[in-house]
Amino acid sequence: MPYVVTKNHFPEHYVDWADVMTKTAAEFEFGATKVLYDEKTLPTLVLHTEFRPGTLNTAFENIKKQIFQSHHNDISNEWLYNINVMHVYYSIGNRAVTFGRHQDCEDVMIVQSYGTIEYLMDDGTPFEKGDVESVKLEPGDSLWIKEGTWHDPIVTEPRITLSLS
Ligand SMILES: [Fe+2]
Repeated sequence: MPYVVTKNHFPEHYVDWADVMTKTAAEFEFGATKVLYDEKTLPTLVLHTEFRPGTLNTAFENIKKQIFQSHHNDISNEWLYNINVMHVYYSIGNRAVTFGRHQDCEDVMIVQSYGTIEYLMDDGTPFEKGDVESVKLEPGDSLWIKEGTWHDPIVTEPRITLSLS
C-alpha cells in the first residue's frame, strides 16, 4: 500500500498544549475552528490556519529541516521540499470522533506530536474496505500517505497530530 512509516524520525516534534490553546482561541474568533463532536465522546479539534504560535512554529521548522536532511525512495523530493502547510488535529480523549475513513486529494505527512494514534490503512474502494493494515504512531513517528490512499484515524487517548503538506 502506498504509505511510509518512520519511527522516531522527528525528535523535535514537541508542541506545548498552551500554544495549541492559543491557536484554538484565535482561530475560533474568526470562525476557522472545526470541532468534531458527538455527545458520547470528547471532541477532536481541527486547526487549519497558518497561525503557529511558539512551539507550533518551532516544531514546523524543525520537522521541515529534518525532512530536508533525509529522503525516502517512495516520496518525491519535490513534494518534500515544497511542504508549506501544517494542519493541527487534537483530541481530548479516547474514542474521539474523527473524519473517519477517507482519502485525501494530495500527499500528506502525518507527524505524531503528543500521545499515540492508530491509522487503519486499506486498499479498498469508496464502498468497501480492502485489506486493512494497522499503523501505530508514537510521538516523533511519521506516516506519509500517498494521495488517494484510504485511511481511518483511531483515537485512544489525548493526542496532538500534525499533518504537513
Ligand atoms: Fe487524511
